[in-house]
Amino acid sequence: MDVFSKIDLNNTPKHIAIIMDGNGRWAKKQGQERLYGHSIGVESVREALNACKRLGVKYLTLYAFSTENWNRPKEEVDGLMNLLVQTIANEVDDLNKNKVRFVTIGNEEGLPESCKEELRAAKKATEKNDDIYLILALNYSARWEITNAIKNIAIKVNQGEIEPNLINDELVSSFLTTANYPDPELLIRTSGELRISNFLLWQIAYSEFHFTDVLWPDFKEEDLFKAVLDYQSRERRFGQTSEQLT
Ligand code: FPP
Repeated sequence: MDVFSKIDLNNTPKHIAIIMDGNGRWAKKQGQERLYGHSIGVESVREALNACKRLGVKYLTLYAFSTENWNRPKEEVDGLMNLLVQTIANEVDDLNKNKVRFVTIGNEEGLPESCKEELRAAKKATEKNDDIYLILALNYSARWEITNAIKNIAIKVNQGEIEPNLINDELVSSFLTTANYPDPELLIRTSGELRISNFLLWQIAYSEFHFTDVLWPDFKEEDLFKAVLDYQSRERRFGQTSEQLT
């Protein structure tokens, strides 16, 4: 029995987030430059997106560039930015064909002007699609996002628009760059690393984690199906007891 047919299609996550890791190590193993790993990683993005479409997953969030990634060698940063923006621009027709809506989260202001333009164009060109959202985390870090939200809430409190006693989970969520999307039920990280690396810290409060040793350029549809099967084997208690759930 193949992995896909073992999945209960009535219990798939609505939102899957992925920390795509291992491009550099994959490239090194092939005796290639790190950028080659990133470029082959684009094919795995297609695999993940197709797998999500087959499962009826509505939101796929990919951690493509963190605020800390600016500290990498300039050549890699420039190459990666180029690859991201060019890929999105080249894929617009395919995204439309597959009814994929492209959006981003993160500090868009901090991106180079040419990237911002390309990203705006891709968002605009796909804004009517609603089969699945491809949410690219670009210049993203959770601490930046939370700090930014606190700053903006404080400004509104100062202006008398928000009553401090009314600040709750929901209000904080509405100030994050993910405000329009539900929290991910499943978070996947590839390459065997067991950490979160400043990704969606607020939103993953109740997410299930799936870690795999597969390096991102080797990630295939079947790997995503395996992660969903693993997710379906978990008991999600949200702080309650097992007995309360049954
Ligand atoms: C982490 O691997 C990967 C990244 C920082 C970039 C991921 C980007 C892509 C796969 C391109 C995706 C393209 C689109 C359009 C979404 P790493 O470099 O940290 O690998 P290492 O840990 O082995 O060094």
